[in-house]
Amino acid sequence: MNRVPPGGLTGGDQDRIEALLKSMTWDEKLAQMQIVFRADPAELRRWVRAGVGAIFWPRSAAAVNALQRVAVEQTRLGIPLLVGLDVIHGQRTIAPTPLAMAASFDPDMVQDTARLAAAEAASGGVTWTFSPMIDVSRDPRWGRAVESFGEDPYLNAVMGAAVIRGYQGDDLRAPTSIAATAKHFVGYGHAEGGRDYNTADMSEHRLRNVYLEPFRAATAAGAAAVMAAFNTIGGKPMHAHRRLLTQVLKDEWGLRGVIVGDADGVGNLVPHGVAVDLLDAVQQSVRAGLDIEIGGSLTDDAGHALLTAEQLPVDRVDDAVRRILSLKARLGLFDQPYVPEDEEITEPTRRARAEVRAAAVRSAVLLKNDGTLPVTLHGRVLLTGPYATSTDHLGAWTQPFAAPAGSIAQELASRYPDVAFTVHQGAGFYDDDPADLPAVAAAAAGHDLVLVFAGEPSSLSGEAASRSDLRLPGRQEELIRAVAGTGIPFAVVLINGRPLVTSGWIDTAPAVLEAWHLGTEAPAAIVDLLTGAAEPAGRLPISFPRGTGQIPVYYSHENTGRPATVRGTMRQEAVDVGLVGPGAVAGKYTSKYLDLELGPQFDFGHGSGYTTFRYVNARLSPGRLPLAALGRGEQVRVSVEVSNTGGRDGDEVVQLYVRDLVSSVARPVRRLIGFARRHIGIGQTATVSFKVGTEQLGFWDAEADPARFVVEPGTFALYLGGDLHATHELPFEVV
Ligand code: BGC
Repeated sequence: MNRVPPGGLTGGDQDRIEALLKSMTWDEKLAQMQIVFRADPAELRRWVRAGVGAIFWPRSAAAVNALQRVAVEQTRLGIPLLVGLDVIHGQRTIAPTPLAMAASFDPDMVQDTARLAAAEAASGGVTWTFSPMIDVSRDPRWGRAVESFGEDPYLNAVMGAAVIRGYQGDDLRAPTSIAATAKHFVGYGHAEGGRDYNTADMSEHRLRNVYLEPFRAATAAGAAAVMAAFNTIGGKPMHAHRRLLTQVLKDEWGLRGVIVGDADGVGNLVPHGVAVDLLDAVQQSVRAGLDIEIGGSLTDDAGHALLTAEQLPVDRVDDAVRRILSLKARLGLFDQPYVPEDEEITEPTRRARAEVRAAAVRSAVLLKNDGTLPVTLHGRVLLTGPYATSTDHLGAWTQPFAAPAGSIAQELASRYPDVAFTVHQGAGFYDDDPADLPAVAAAAAGHDLVLVFAGEPSSLSGEAASRSDLRLPGRQEELIRAVAGTGIPFAVVLINGRPLVTSGWIDTAPAVLEAWHLGTEAPAAIVDLLTGAAEPAGRLPISFPRGTGQIPVYYSHENTGRPATVRGTMRQEAVDVGLVGPGAVAGKYTSKYLDLELGPQFDFGHGSGYTTFRYVNARLSPGRLPLAALGRGEQVRVSVEVSNTGGRDGDEVVQLYVRDLVSSVARPVRRLIGFARRHIGIGQTATVSFKVGTEQLGFWDAEADPARFVVEPGTFALYLGGDLHATHELPFEVV
């Protein structure tokens, strides 16, 4: 086969596109610029007959082929359809949620799960997915944090690029490839108050250095599409934001793919109050740089344009159509619009199950452990909490045709037939009988071990699922405290879509495993982890706050002029103002809450395992570099030796952070610039090294017009270790 790099077109393709463009009528061009949804089968056929450019997946390879046949054989130009679908973390076989997979700190694994999802979806005729979501998410009230790779720009950039490589492969024409969409451009995760769709105002400095960075990486990775976000920035809704859509994304970064609107995002310009009606909204969006609208507002379902050539710039429309046809050509649709129906994958293969089970294991995070975990199952074991029997493990953004998960109780019973399991739910997600709590405590007495499976159902995270209180819903906190009161050994497994506030019970629990929503094989993976058949080694991709009022709390914050830095010391000032408690930890006139300890409950990068590691010989070379040398691409080599000092083989996630000590603008106190997950056997030592250069040391100077990426001379501190408070500090100078 003729290999075509992602983004690449053959000469023949280009000729075909130009010839088509010349022969297209105005109506035919506008029809290409939309994807229809919410259409029943008869309506859909009518739209396709009328030359619409894209449809949502009609649920089978046969249905796709039937509609492609209409597009190819019954329209004047025979242009094949793009077939879009939200394939987010799996099509049939569901991998962990994106937030969970970010915790793996394993981009190769993330790429493989995307490849698996692409192969399953493509076999059914999907050509285009609306994923990955790379919105930096620093407010866990926002339910969509679950679809992101967490709070860090670099982690979102690395994981987003891995997903794009997984979906698109080396060649978009391959029968296992689909086009990726980086979304939502941009700032959507910065919604005020964490309320979905809300205003996301911010400075150019924040935009450039935090929210745009993952999209810059996605564009460089060859994302076939970018989706506009629902929010405004500076009062301008993103669907009408010409500067960001056209000047930054297309002109500055050179996006060759398409910009697609979000569902009804164009129409939403009317309630935003910037467009008088839908047609005004369409004009503004297309002028701003949007290429494809979700909804069907450029033509009617008979293919007649709703806007004239006087109402839309002809060059802009030609550019949009050229991009759309190019994407179709890159997908090979002009040569092969059909999929082999007998090869459609409709359920997980054994291999796919094994793959997502391994991914699930790698995504779990051991939040705390006094040695209770792993457990040896014997005698009588009480299973409690709503997730003991719930099968709701797939997480937000899965489709009804995805392969379901079983329950943990079933998994345990089938794998450990000699153990006597008692199931006593004790508390549900919502509707509880308070009498159940003492009953669980009474039941626990006759058991050797209690396992509490607590969490949030999938419906509490995802789109339009913001929460104002991040404690466990229902009476689950009381359930954990009731179990703790019995004195019987126990462990808690959390199953949830977003960071939770755990302060009401965390100190009572000897061991806590964060298991997110881990997908189709979640129960098997959770049992593997609890029993030590597998090692937990994930690290948090997002901070867990101490209280909802502390949000946003994220590691990579700028220093204030009055930083509160002393953890855990009582200060006289706090006593003076009448507060004697956990918040009384630092000077009075410092940046903090009086009634909370400093920092989050669990930091970004936090997580342990069943073995231990020691770091020695952290070094860096050279210790200083002239600016000009960095500019020529010279780099600093940073390395460390990591030894497994515990009693089990295991994985360690080595993390490298930087701080620019003095700069022309306040820089973050820590910034992740590298990580590596390594498997290290008992007694073994691995040398882990990183290269640090301009890309890692610089920042966007947003005062410059246009903004410039700069490295400023001065001293930097590099921090190397197994968590955020990595003790190996290495100074480095740029002269
Ligand atoms: C979501 C997008 C999604 C789109 C299409 C919207 O409501 O915001 O993330 O891709 O629907 O289903």
